[in-house]
Amino acid sequence: MAPNPTAGDGGSAHAAATVPVVAVDGPAASGKGTIAEGVAAVLRFHRLDSGALYRLVAWRALESATPLDDAPALAALARLDARFDADRVTAGGHDVTAALRGEDVSAAASRVAVHPAVRAALTERQRAFRRPPGLVADGRDMGTVIFPDARLKVFVTASPAERAARRHKQLIAKGISVTLESLLREIEARDARDAGRSAAPLAAAPDAVTLDTTGVAPAASIAAVLELCRARGIEPARE
Ligand code: DC
Repeated sequence: MAPNPTAGDGGSAHAAATVPVVAVDGPAASGKGTIAEGVAAVLRFHRLDSGALYRLVAWRALESATPLDDAPALAALARLDARFDADRVTAGGHDVTAALRGEDVSAAASRVAVHPAVRAALTERQRAFRRPPGLVADGRDMGTVIFPDARLKVFVTASPAERAARRHKQLIAKGISVTLESLLREIEARDARDAGRSAAPLAAAPDAVTLDTTGVAPAASIAAVLELCRARGIEPARE
């Protein structure tokens, strides 16, 4: 991630607008995070994992027993300071990176994300990640709302069964025991919530390229997006 940007400190909006953005959107466990990470590494661009911001709000809400339907209180939590350094998230002096990946936080993140006030509180914070030499941003609304002028927009999909199987493998590797069936149900519920909400629903931008990763190895998906980057004149930054 970019070195701890905070709202409003991203330089002039005009200067930022010339910085190329690659927007990678898609549903839960579609592979968009892995693709964004791989593409950012090759291009030597900054990276925004926008889901981490929603996860942080959700984690704070769970910690403080804030109801997940109390939009003003959740928006206030979204405005609290946090550090995003090299893929580690620090809040209140604690490294919360691992805590943000829990399934309880995943489910709560999708519930806090339905509130327009929460989304508004996070908008400028996300745009502040746009810094030279470029940004690869992944989430649900990077190409539709946050960076509508992104140079490349990719919408990543995969079948629900494949996404549940990927998440299952990740969790088992971490020693967390869950059933495939419960993950499939959870993924389908999250999809329905993320796509059905009225504020910035999960949807491909009209000018996005759809990439179906079902049965495709991560390296091949990353290579496909890098090819699209090249076709649009997005080249790796010099070291
Ligand atoms: O990408 P993720 O699984 O870490 O995202 C967690 C939740 O946050 C997801 O269910 C919906 C929400 N989210 C969002 O609404 N908009 C984004 N740009 C990113 C995530």
